[in-house]
Amino acid sequence: MSIRTICCIGAGYVGGPTMAVIADRCPGIQVTVVDLNQARIDAWNDPDLSKLPVYEPGLDAVVGRCRGRNLHFSTAVEPAIAAADMVFLSVNTPTKTKGVGAGQASDLRWIEASARQVAACAQGHTIVVEKSTLPVRTAETVQAILSAAQGDGASGGSPKTFAVLSNPEFLAEGTAIPDLEQPDRVLIGGDDPAAIEALVGVYGQWVPDQRILRTNLWSSELSKLTANAFLAQRISSINSIAALCEATGADVQEVAHAIGADSRIGGKFLKAGPGFGGSCLQKDILNLVYLCGHYGLHEVAAYWQSVVELNGWQQHRIARLVVQRLFGTVTGKRLAVLGFAFKADTNDTREAPAIRICQDLLEESAQLAIYDPKVSAAQMAEDLGPVGQEGAWEAVGTPLEAVAGADAVLILTEWASFAGLDWPQLAAPMRKPAWLFDARSIADLAAARAAGLNVWRVGMG
Ligand code: NAD
Ligand code: UGA
Repeated sequence: MSIRTICCIGAGYVGGPTMAVIADRCPGIQVTVVDLNQARIDAWNDPDLSKLPVYEPGLDAVVGRCRGRNLHFSTAVEPAIAAADMVFLSVNTPTKTKGVGAGQASDLRWIEASARQVAACAQGHTIVVEKSTLPVRTAETVQAILSAAQGDGASGGSPKTFAVLSNPEFLAEGTAIPDLEQPDRVLIGGDDPAAIEALVGVYGQWVPDQRILRTNLWSSELSKLTANAFLAQRISSINSIAALCEATGADVQEVAHAIGADSRIGGKFLKAGPGFGGSCLQKDILNLVYLCGHYGLHEVAAYWQSVVELNGWQQHRIARLVVQRLFGTVTGKRLAVLGFAFKADTNDTREAPAIRICQDLLEESAQLAIYDPKVSAAQMAEDLGPVGQEGAWEAVGTPLEAVAGADAVLILTEWASFAGLDWPQLAAPMRKPAWLFDARSIADLAAARAAGLNVWRVGMG
């Protein structure tokens, strides 16, 4: 079966960029991305490409090439499903906040709702692709919902039939476009060879066949959770060693380089920092922890839980050491915070380490001046929550505004521009003795020291 029309439910950080690249690489396929969120769809359709709802380097050019040609964004969910040969489910799957499994299990209400919509609106044969990250065996639920509608004839049309595939997404925010254009691998899980080959036919238009992995459904679903758990585990591992470096006089950058040179370990994902953030690493490990508990594997659950605990500890540790270095109190002191996004090159702040660190410092009655090139003041206010009450913090437009009268500057996101900060200029208006706390190892420490600042860098003993 050759795919001519695709519908993607969910126009978020995954659905938008992924479908844009599919449309770009497959001019013969009409791709419609649908979402219930009217404001989000309007932003995807904004003639000004700098206003797309997701900031990703290179995304504007891809959308600019395809939108209106074979890439469409719409809130009309039902007709888009009805017209589709293949429907991607790319909806949010956050951690449950209440009920059974609260704080660990994924909340599958949006997956269930979108599967029900597909069951209701599809016509003829439809391949349903799980793109969201899901607990292993979710495809069973999706299949059960679709099976209940199987055979129903659309008025005058052919009876409905379905095939379900798992095709998790491995893109990282900030590098979504290169990750999609040159993926390390594309993973397709399923038990229907014709459906698998139909999806291979889509990716095969730009991804070499040896990079397209075919597995059973459950291996595919579980591989996604496992990949994120392994990535997060490396970050917690290096952050644990960073603390030991600080205590012993070793330097975590030298240690990371030395161990990463071993090809069995490899050099990637060994950057110590303020802990991992983002919408997925923590969510997916917690989900794995929940699944292990469900299957009675309590030691395995505890093993992965410790990766999340170390991450939270690292964030609180950094806030605590800022207070300690500033003579044990930050009450009423102005602290400049540079970077709020969970990593560079994205406007996403979900689970950003900056949130927890800022909240801890606000609890200590610090006055924060926060600068981030892509995060809005409204987003910061929402993230800081009740502790970020009026008057306790402000969003500023430049690093220079942030440091005026400040006792310290904290770097919490590795925006490239922070590597070239003009330390003599920034240090001048600070209250002395003043500190630089570089949680991302990006600042020019020699220049900051020469400008009279005391310096702490993560993992530098
Ligand atoms: P998101 O919250 O940015 O987007 C999800 C969108 O789905 C929202 O806009 C929401 O309005 C829409 N939606 C929900 N239910 C709907 C329905 N019934 N009909 C129409 N629209 C509906 O989420 P995201 O970051 O794109 O993540 C989506 C999935 O992909 C998650 O499972 C996540 O774990 C996974 N994932 C995310 C990333 C990432 O970098 N963000 C990477 C890989 C995988
Ligand atoms: C991560 C995975 O890398 C993707 O493969 C996956 O598809 C995605 O989750 C997902 O499922 O959502 P993402 O969270 O976008 O991608 O970004 P990462 O580059 O993994 O960074 C996550 C966090 O870890 C960031 O806060 C980053 O600053 C931090 N990090 C990363 C480190 O502290 N050290 C490192 O060496 C690498």
